[in-house]
Amino acid sequence: MERDLSREARYERITEQLRGLLIATPSLMSAMATVCSLLHAKMRHHSWTGFYLVAGDELHVGPYQGPLACQVLRGGGVCWEAVKMQKSVIVPDVQSFPGHIACDDRARSEVAVPLIRDRAVLGVLDVDSHAPDQFDESDARALERIVALLALPSGLPRIVA
Ligand code: SME
Repeated sequence: MERDLSREARYERITEQLRGLLIATPSLMSAMATVCSLLHAKMRHHSWTGFYLVAGDELHVGPYQGPLACQVLRGGGVCWEAVKMQKSVIVPDVQSFPGHIACDDRARSEVAVPLIRDRAVLGVLDVDSHAPDQFDESDARALERIVALLALPSGLPRIVA
C-alpha cells in the first residue's frame, strides 16, 4: 500500500526520482513526457499536467497527461501570462482570471510555471485541477524545482547538482 505522504513530501519524492530518471532520458521532449507522467500519476489534485512550447506568437501543446488539450494557445490566458511575466502564475479560481482558456470545462484552478533556458522562455509546465484553490506557493516552488531539472543550456537534459 502506498504511504500517505503529504503533498510536499510527494513532490520531493518525485523530484528525487526525476533526478535519477532524467540521466537516461535522450531528449528534452522525452524528459518533459517523463515529468508529466510522474506528476500526473502521483499528484491526486492534478487533473491535467502538461507542457506548452513557445512557437512564435503561439503556444503549441507538448507532452501531456489528462483530457484532450487545446492544441494552440494564442494571445491571453494563464500560460501566456507565465510566459510574458517569466514567473509562475497561480490561479485559485480560473473563472475569475481574465482571458482564461478553458480546454476542459471541469478545470477550476491552475498553476503555470515557465521553462526558461539561456534567459529565453521555451514554454510552460501547466497544471489544472478540477477543484478550486488547489495550488499555492508551495506547489509553484516544487514545480519550479522540477522544471529547473530541464532548464540547463545543453541540448540534453542534465541533472542539476
Ligand atoms: N487554461 C490554460 C490553457 C491550457 S489548459 O489549461 C490545458 C490557459 O488559460 O492558458
